[in-house]
Amino acid sequence: MTDSIALENKYELSLYPKRGINIVKGKNATLWDSEGKEYIDCVGGIGVASVGHCNEYVAKAIAVQAQILITCPCIFHNDVRALLLEKLVNITPAGVTRAFLCNSGTESIEAAIKFARYSTKMTDFICAVRGFHGRTMGSLSATYNPKYRAGYEPFVPGFYFVPFNDFEKLKEKISDNTAGVILEIVQGEGGIHVGDKEYFRKVQELCSDSGILLIIDEVQTGFCRTGKMFACNHFDIEPDILCLAKAIAGGFPMGAVLCSAKIDLPAGKHGSTNGGNPLACAAALAAIDYMLEFKLDKQAADKGAYFIDLMKKRPLDKIREIRNLGLMIGIELKEENKPYIQKLMEKGVLVMPAGPNVLRMLPPLTIEYEQIDRVVEALSEIL
Ligand SMILES: Cc1ncc(COP(=O)(O)O)c(C=O)c1O
Repeated sequence: MTDSIALENKYELSLYPKRGINIVKGKNATLWDSEGKEYIDCVGGIGVASVGHCNEYVAKAIAVQAQILITCPCIFHNDVRALLLEKLVNITPAGVTRAFLCNSGTESIEAAIKFARYSTKMTDFICAVRGFHGRTMGSLSATYNPKYRAGYEPFVPGFYFVPFNDFEKLKEKISDNTAGVILEIVQGEGGIHVGDKEYFRKVQELCSDSGILLIIDEVQTGFCRTGKMFACNHFDIEPDILCLAKAIAGGFPMGAVLCSAKIDLPAGKHGSTNGGNPLACAAALAAIDYMLEFKLDKQAADKGAYFIDLMKKRPLDKIREIRNLGLMIGIELKEENKPYIQKLMEKGVLVMPAGPNVLRMLPPLTIEYEQIDRVVEALSEIL
């Protein structure tokens, strides 16, 4: 039998802190490794597998579209892409009316930065302490954590950081050169910190009064994760630019940038070879249809509340705080998370870190209640 672990260790750049298990199969919220061991997946492809692994709608749409047309650059019109664009505009907050399609979250942020600079003729961006927006040079320039930045200087100029949820500090940083404010509604990588409704109301007002673009990064929070189709919907936020990716296409790589009428660029000013390919569009259409039909927004809200309720009934020594919005969950520990991630894995539960002491959980929104019970049981045993 092929030793996949040895092959990856030999041939892949060692960029990822590997877990030492070889995942070979998935269904809904369950994953299996090559030894046949079963896991409850609270990593969910890092927030990608919201409709569940190998979702039947998505798998069928990919199989069917793969026999019709896989690639078709955006210089040509395409039937499936047209339907997806219409659907995206229909389900996103009012105010965004057109979209650019790409292949990942970081690409959606790169595009947003370029669109904002071009449309406003301004150069600068206000970003949040603990914010995460991706790993390419533009999105990394908007990302706070020194761990991700060190060694990659110099960054794109014009990015300034202010504390999250502190409106006065943000306002102080605004200048005549500010093109946009880039924020997550719930900081994911930063440790699951939920934005304040009042803070976002004021930021929205400030941006619209001063002609600054409000750029909301819903790469991780989008598509029902937080209990609404978009986290913006919790606070009635209408962004000028909305960045999406991760769960958009049920596991197929895709990103999207939804734009208001304030964004207008002439042909040729930005583009992507694979962005908007019919295969990804078919997968996204199927994933979104599934989310709507099975009310994954409500499922995320109900299951998130169920999890928190169970955890509250068992106060655990090693937990400092639990934060969540829907099924975007962070358990802050009083100590380092690493050994606990390992112990959970041994018990058949996969979770991931957010910083040094938070256990982050982004399970498929289709996870079963009985699986949530088992996750809580495992957490209780180790914490
Ligand atoms: C909020 C946010 N923005 C952007 C990104 C980057 O997305 P990708 O890894 O698809 O480039 C991530 C990834 O975790 C994210 O959480």
